[in-house]
Amino acid sequence: MTEKANFISCGTYHPEPKESPIPMTFRKAFETDKQCVKATLRATAIGIFDIELNGKRVTEEYFAPGFTSYEHTLQYMEYDVTDKIAADNDLIVVVGAGWACGRFTYLSKTQITAKRQALRLSLKLEYADGASEIYSTDESWQVSMDGPYRFADFYDGETLDARIEYDKMTWQPAMIEHINIRPQIVKRTGVPVIRHEKMMPARSFVTPSGKLAYDFGQNFAGVVDLKINGHEGQTITVRHAEVLAHGELCFSSLRTAKATATYICKEGQQSYSPRLTYMGFRYIQIDGIDAADVEVAAYAIYSDIQKIAAFECSNEDLNRVQSNIEWGARSNFVEVPTDCPQRDERLGWTGDLSVFCSTACYNYDMKEFLNKWLRDVRSEQKKSGGVPFIVPKHGTNYPDVPTACWGDSCIIVPWTSYMSSGDIDVLKDNYPMMKKYLNAVKHSAALFSFGDKRYIWKLLFQFGDWCAPEGGVQDWLKRGPWVGTAFYSYDCLLMSKVATELGLGEDASEYLALKAKVDSTYMSQFTDGNGKLTDEFQTGYILPIYFRMADDETLHKMADNLERMVIDTDYHLCTGFMGTPFILFALCDMGKVDTAYKVLLQDTAPSWLYEIKRGATTFWEGWRTVPPDNIEQGLGLEESEGGESFNHYAAGSVGDFLYRRVAGLEATSAGYKTFKVVPVPGGGLTHVKTSHESPYGRIAVEWRIDADAFAIDIDVPTGTTCSLTLPDGSESVCKEGHYTHSCTL
Ligand code: BGC
Repeated sequence: MTEKANFISCGTYHPEPKESPIPMTFRKAFETDKQCVKATLRATAIGIFDIELNGKRVTEEYFAPGFTSYEHTLQYMEYDVTDKIAADNDLIVVVGAGWACGRFTYLSKTQITAKRQALRLSLKLEYADGASEIYSTDESWQVSMDGPYRFADFYDGETLDARIEYDKMTWQPAMIEHINIRPQIVKRTGVPVIRHEKMMPARSFVTPSGKLAYDFGQNFAGVVDLKINGHEGQTITVRHAEVLAHGELCFSSLRTAKATATYICKEGQQSYSPRLTYMGFRYIQIDGIDAADVEVAAYAIYSDIQKIAAFECSNEDLNRVQSNIEWGARSNFVEVPTDCPQRDERLGWTGDLSVFCSTACYNYDMKEFLNKWLRDVRSEQKKSGGVPFIVPKHGTNYPDVPTACWGDSCIIVPWTSYMSSGDIDVLKDNYPMMKKYLNAVKHSAALFSFGDKRYIWKLLFQFGDWCAPEGGVQDWLKRGPWVGTAFYSYDCLLMSKVATELGLGEDASEYLALKAKVDSTYMSQFTDGNGKLTDEFQTGYILPIYFRMADDETLHKMADNLERMVIDTDYHLCTGFMGTPFILFALCDMGKVDTAYKVLLQDTAPSWLYEIKRGATTFWEGWRTVPPDNIEQGLGLEESEGGESFNHYAAGSVGDFLYRRVAGLEATSAGYKTFKVVPVPGGGLTHVKTSHESPYGRIAVEWRIDADAFAIDIDVPTGTTCSLTLPDGSESVCKEGHYTHSCTL
C-alpha cells in the first residue's frame, strides 16, 4: 500500500490457543465538509474482512484479502468508494478469523499466521480543490469484540446476532499490532470470490426425525440466503450436508467441520446470509423457525473464473458428467484450488489440480487464478527444489520433497495454462522453479541408487496409485515406483516442450535425453522387455502409453495388455488419481476405441456413470465413496467409508477426453493458434457439440451421425489454423471461417 498505515488490533483480546478468534470489529468516524471527487480505500488484514461505509458494503467480494502464502505475500485490495462518502462518515470493518487465524487444515490448527486478527487500511479522499486527506489505521481507530458476528471460521461456520447494534457496543481504542510475519504486501491479483448462481430449493421436506430440511438438487460451495420473519432473540440454526442417509442429513463427509450457520433474530422481517465462511452442501436442515416464516435460497460462491466452453452430446448421462465437472470446478476454485469444499480440509492439494487442470482450462479462463496460485508455489519452493504437497502450505506438515503428480504440478500447471492461454509469461515466470524442481526429482530418483536404478523415482515419498478402487492406502503407496518413474518421464517431456517454447534448445535436448533414460529404465525394470509388466496394474500401463515412454510397437503391446485387464474387469475402472485422466486416451490412441467407450459408458461400480446413476451431482473422492453393497443391503451413507468427500474434482479429469477425443478439439500450439479437430465417434453417440473461447476467438465443433453418414461443422477463428481429420481418414486444413464436411462411416 502506498499510504503509511499500521496494522491495528484489539490489544486486550487473547483468544484461547485452540479457538478460532471471534470476529473483531473496527470503527472510524470522520467528517468532511469539502466536496470529495475521489475516495480510494485500500485494505489488507490478518484474517478476512467485510467493510461497510455509511451502512453500505464497499464490495460484494467474499474473504478479502484472499488466501495466499501469507509468510511471503499478503494482498491488499483497492476499492473506489467515492459514491459512499458523506459529510458524516462511519467506517466499520469486521475482520473474521479466516485462513490466517481460524481453525484450518486437517490438523485442526488454529491461529496459524497470528493469534488474533489485525487490520491495515487507508482511505484517501481527494477534494475538488486539489487537496487530499488520508485516514489510516492507527490508535485513533476504535475496536470492539462485542460485534454482531459472534463466531466465524471456515470449518465450523458462523454465528450472527442481529440484535447487536454498533452504537450500543463497547468500544476501546485499537492498538498498533506487530505482526510476526514479514510478507510482501502486494496489490491483489487473481479473481475475487463473489456470488454466482442463485440456488433455489428443489423441494422442502420433513426428515423422519422431524427436522425441516431443503434439497437444492445440486452439491455446491456457497452460503444460504434466508428471508426471515422473526422475533427478537429467536435463534435459527442451519446445518449443511452433501447427502442424506435414511432420510436425514448425513454429516459424515464433513468429518469434524460443524458447517453450521446460527442467526439470532431481531424483531420483524430480516435477511441473513453468511459473509465470513462458506460450506459445501446440497441439503440444509433448519432449526428454530417454522417453514412459513422463512424463505430459503442460497448462492454458489467461488472465484470469478469465466466460463469459456460448452459441451453437450446425445447421451444424457455424459451431459450430467459435464455438469458434474463444471460444479466440481466451481466448488473447488475458491481463492485457491482446493481438494473439497465441505470437510475440515479445503486445502490447496497440488496433485488434485495436476490431474484436473487441463479440463479446468478448457472450461474456464483460469489464467489469472492460476497465476496467483503459482506465485505461492514459487515462493514456497524449497532451496532443494521441492514444493509442498499443499500450496499455500499454511500450517500443514508434510515434508516438501518432490513427489509425482503432486509436486509435478509446478510443471504441469504452467504448461497447461500456457497451452490454453497462449501467454508465454507463465512459462517465463515459472521456468526457474520448474527447472529447479526437475533437478530435485533427478536427485531424489538417484538417491541411494546405482546404474539404471537412478532413473526409478520412488524416493522420498510417492502417492502411488492414489485412490484406486481396490485395496487401501498401503496398496496405493506400493505403486509409487511405477507411477513416480512414469511422471518423471512426463516431467521431462513437458520440460523439453517448455524449453523449446522459450528458445532454450540445449535445455530441451537435455530433457529429452533424460526422458529416454527414464523410459528405457521403466521398460527394463518393470516389463518383460516385450510390453508386459511383470507386476501388472492398469495405471502401470496407462501412464507409459500416454507419456510415450517406448516405441510404437511396444506401446501397442502394452495397450493390448491394458485392454485385456480392462476386459477382465468388465470395463470397470481400476485406476487412482493419476491413471484416471489418461486411461481413455491410452486405449483410444492405440486404436481401442470401442473399449475406451465401454469404460466411459460403464454404469456399474467403479465407473463415472455409476456415480451419475447414484444421483451424484459432483464427482466423489473415491470410486467407492458409496459402495454398491451399501445400497444393495439398504445401508445408509454413514456406513460408507468414513469422511470421503462427495465433491472432489479429480475424477472430472475425464472431461479432457470428452473435448479432445469425443468432440475431437485439441490445441496443437499455445492458445489454439493451431489446433486439430479429429473426432472419434463411438459409444452410440449420434450428436456432439462443443465450443471453446480461445484467445483468438470462439472455436466451435459439432458433429452428427445419421445412419452411416457423418457430418461436421466447425468454426475457425481469425488468425488460427485447424487441421481436420474425418473418421474416414480424409484430411483438410481450414483457415478462418465456417466449414461443413461429411463422410461415410
Ligand atoms: C485430499 C486429496 C489429496 C490427498 C493426498 C486428501 O485428504 O482430499 O484430494 O490430494 O489427501 O494425500
